Amino acid sequence: MSAQTLIPTAKAMVAEGKGLLAMDESTPTCNKRFEKVGIPQTEEARRSYRELIVSTPGLGEFISGVILYDETIRQSGKDGTPFVKVITDAGIIPGIKVDTGAQEMAGHPGEKITEGLDGLRDRLTEYAQMGARFAKWRAVITIADAIPSRSCIEANAHALARYAALCQEAGLVPIVEPEVLMDGGHPLERCFEVTAEVLRTVFSQLYTQRVALEGMILKPSMVLPGKDCSKQDSLEEVADATVTCLLRAVPAAVPGIAFLSGGQPHELATARLNAMNLRFKTRMPWALTFSFSRAIQQPALEIWKGRQANAGAAQQALYHRARCNSAARLGRYRTEMENHVASLAS
Ligand code: 13P
Repeated sequence: MSAQTLIPTAKAMVAEGKGLLAMDESTPTCNKRFEKVGIPQTEEARRSYRELIVSTPGLGEFISGVILYDETIRQSGKDGTPFVKVITDAGIIPGIKVDTGAQEMAGHPGEKITEGLDGLRDRLTEYAQMGARFAKWRAVITIADAIPSRSCIEANAHALARYAALCQEAGLVPIVEPEVLMDGGHPLERCFEVTAEVLRTVFSQLYTQRVALEGMILKPSMVLPGKDCSKQDSLEEVADATVTCLLRAVPAAVPGIAFLSGGQPHELATARLNAMNLRFKTRMPWALTFSFSRAIQQPALEIWKGRQANAGAAQQALYHRARCNSAARLGRYRTEMENHVASLAS
């Protein structure tokens, strides 16, 4: 597959004013989030929730692509229309999560390695036939006293690069997601060092595996202090550290960088993305946008609670977060924009 066919898709995924919506929670993760708000953990509840998301009126104004899970890409709306068609008709590009999850890494207590390379070529062919145009693979890096180890970073970077090469062969744009977790009490500077090492290793492996950088999207975590760190840096400090780290480690040939939210409060994730675009807009060679799951979906999920009567209000909350993040992608988000949804939800 020539890189030329991947480039238009990659560019469309990070188009001006748009970002990605991750709705690819695995069944256990989705069930855990349902359980917290009292929603039954059934296949029908998951289908119904995903239908609410993909049928949100106007979502395509702000969302370029959605990342689906294996169960979801095979599902349809109540009227029998396949989700892939609902999504495509809304002007949104369907994508698919293809890793099979992060497992304990042998010999490396506290560290994980992402699995899913076996049989991946055939699975990618099937997803492409179903209408997916991009894919996602998430690697997880944990910061603690003596970790991450060099071996964990290298093993995960190698798997990400082999996945990305297979995606491009199948005509799918790979989203390469090395997530450095926010868990822990470490300061922002430690996250900066680890993120820089992880990104450099990932791009070295992508080069070794002959991945065309023009036909991929990077999905990193922001450079943040650990959740339990007593010093929580300002918006500007986070923006400066994150973009400085990316400028040092991410080649200019990559068309776009789309952040995960990682459990940050949703308004803070939006404000941080906005600060980066506001402060660095003219100095960044790539588009800088979002690929959030929780920071877009969480308010909608909490409003929906599994009840049809709440579906309209939940869709309004989802639309609102998509709109705020779209503004942040342009550096035009203002906290006053949040007042609007407070009045919608009450
Ligand atoms: P969060 O935005 O909730 O971190 O999820 C993004 C994602 O896709 C994780 O793989």
